[in-house]
Amino acid sequence: MIVISEFIDTIHHSREENSYFPCVSNHDSLKDEIHRFLVEHEFGRNVARLISRHLKLWKEGSDEREPVSRYLNAYGVFLKDHLHKENKFFDTAEADVLTKEEEADMYEEYKSVFAVVKKVEEMIAEIDFLESCSWNQK
Ligand SMILES: [Fe+2]
Repeated sequence: MIVISEFIDTIHHSREENSYFPCVSNHDSLKDEIHRFLVEHEFGRNVARLISRHLKLWKEGSDEREPVSRYLNAYGVFLKDHLHKENKFFDTAEADVLTKEEEADMYEEYKSVFAVVKKVEEMIAEIDFLESCSWNQK
């Protein structure tokens, strides 16, 4: 799971910050929204750090199931909402602002994000399953 939160950061946030956002940010009209997304990425990283911290404690023997599943759920909700907003942003940018080349670049960058969301959803389903197991019902 630590791997997955790092994976999300690498694939999603870093990709957008390093390649996609710079490629569209020369359009002034998109700057404010991009800034809002960057703030949300920071939030996402903070939650991912909390998950990692509790996973580490869990590994060291302390019972961290509750915080891990709580933060992971929060992360899932955040990511879904964030991607939904970015999706809308990309659609609008594509329709109104971007050139054909920018559009093609953007699409390549963005496609990879959906694979990550699927992973998070799978993870949350697994945790729900683990929580419902008999050894966890005390
Ligand atoms: Fe993002």
